[in-house]
Amino acid sequence: MCGIVGIIGKVEAAPLLVEGLRRLEYRGYDSAGIATLVDGQIERRRAEGKLANLEALLKTRPVGGLIGIGHTRWATHGVPNERNAHPHATKRVAVVHNGIIENFHELKAELSAKGQVFESDTDTEAVAQLIDYHLAQGMGAEDATAKALERLQGAFALGIVFAGRPDMMIAARQGSPLAIGYGAGEMYLGSDALALAPLTQKIAYLNDGDWAVLTAETVVIRDRTGATVTREVRQTQFSGAMIGKGEHRHFMLKEIFEQPEVVSNALNTMLNPADRTITLPRLPFDLAAVKRVRIIACGTSFYAGSVAKYWIEKLARLPVEVDIASEFRYRCPPMEADGLAIFISQSGETADTLAALRYCREHGQHTLSLVNVPESTIARESEAALLTMAGPEIGVASTKAFTTQLTVLACLAIGMGRATGALSAEAEADICRSLSEIPARIAEVLRRDDDIRVIAQGIAEARDVLYLGRGTGYPIALEGALKLKEISYIHAEAYAAGELKHGPIALIDDSVPVIVICPTDELYEKTASNVQEVVARGGRVVFFSDREGIDRLSAKVFSSMALPSVDPVVAPILYAIPVQLLAYHVAVAKGTDVDQPRNLAKSVTVE
Ligand code: AGP
Repeated sequence: MCGIVGIIGKVEAAPLLVEGLRRLEYRGYDSAGIATLVDGQIERRRAEGKLANLEALLKTRPVGGLIGIGHTRWATHGVPNERNAHPHATKRVAVVHNGIIENFHELKAELSAKGQVFESDTDTEAVAQLIDYHLAQGMGAEDATAKALERLQGAFALGIVFAGRPDMMIAARQGSPLAIGYGAGEMYLGSDALALAPLTQKIAYLNDGDWAVLTAETVVIRDRTGATVTREVRQTQFSGAMIGKGEHRHFMLKEIFEQPEVVSNALNTMLNPADRTITLPRLPFDLAAVKRVRIIACGTSFYAGSVAKYWIEKLARLPVEVDIASEFRYRCPPMEADGLAIFISQSGETADTLAALRYCREHGQHTLSLVNVPESTIARESEAALLTMAGPEIGVASTKAFTTQLTVLACLAIGMGRATGALSAEAEADICRSLSEIPARIAEVLRRDDDIRVIAQGIAEARDVLYLGRGTGYPIALEGALKLKEISYIHAEAYAAGELKHGPIALIDDSVPVIVICPTDELYEKTASNVQEVVARGGRVVFFSDREGIDRLSAKVFSSMALPSVDPVVAPILYAIPVQLLAYHVAVAKGTDVDQPRNLAKSVTVE
């Protein structure tokens, strides 16, 4: 996903723009660039590939100016190269953009016919050329921009600077998030709070349809009707210092090792350790009146929701449907009034999840989101939001966000069980006791990191890997397969272990490692017999269980690891750790870019 920064400052903008773009690297990108105003004229520096290439260019061709915009591009239209890198500019105007201009072909044809000369293959250039056209007609910067915005269809966050106007810049937001940062005699623009963290913690997010004129001292925000509006200025949680790798080689590894702390933080928002009860935040709807639940998300967040399905059905005795957001939003399902729709999103900006939220709101559902970014769009558009408290997650592959999502969902399921009367106080206390021990159990598994690294060496050369699990172990198998795919590029699939005989067992031979998630719960024997079937066909099983589970297993497996024994209800939180570390070490063995895997973005704010 693209990243935007903008500065109207008191010092040279270029180094600050590059620093802001560095904070956005985690979003994934394939080119970068900045534009500043030098003596009123637009100066651009752009480079394909990583920020280091742009920095090298700036060393040989430095650029001055106190006002500027910067961009990291994750290519949607046009191959990743310098010509297609942002900012896109004419002599009069420079633009950076996050999103997709859906009518750019029509605009490009119309403007080309009017004599505008395009140089790139991107949709974004149509924005620059459209504003340029209106400027050439004699309009001022604000009128030209307002006129252009009327024509744009699709999703966009825009940062715009104008030749001859070193005093101002314009920002606009439709779909893709964009924040204004307030400094002392300076003003900033950023795709998220992280980008602005080194500059300010005072930010205001624009709403859809807003556009803003920034000077060094003032911001005037107008909504889609043209009326002047104010947007809440918040103090963000992020500081520049939070975004370091510490002693870890990768952000992903740092974030895996942060899990005891952040899971504990998530627990502390609702679990009362003294009396072992859950206190949910006040919600604007009555949980006891909820008759059905729908959970909607993407990727790893969808797998967290898939675990929650088992928990809510078991503890609250409510029917739960879990949907992939991109499928849900176009299926347009009928919805009974007063249902509860839960949206899970680390970034709080995933386009498909946001669209699903809007559909559910329009169809009379109560909406509750679980997010890691409190000021995100999904949080702001839900009736209520629960925070996962994971802190900034920089690695593209989600790890601590996942286990904190599970933690909050477990607390929510308990709270729902108490609200519906399906869960007794004794049962609540039992599960709360197990939950309160999870951070320590995670720390124990993290101390086995080296053992997992050794197991990883044994599967790093595989072309295909299978993951198996039952019950809440099945979504953990799905998550493990996704982790391996997205950072090591090895093909991996997960199946409900009971499905093995219905086809996947045909895949088994000694070249296919089979990762099995198998705590000693009520399904243990079933999964253990699946392991026998795999071993009998030469499959190389990596068996994650507890001591009892390993001792009871008679099959000879390729490798096994005994995790701490925990209440089966909370086992999925713990069993996420070994599959995260396994994927991490395989990726390191293969030399892939662990924190910014190819083709991936941290948050998918476009379809
Ligand atoms: C997980 O490792 C991936 N990075 C991806 O599947 C992610 O979970 C998905 O894009 C959803 O993102 P969100 O939680 O920010 O909505």
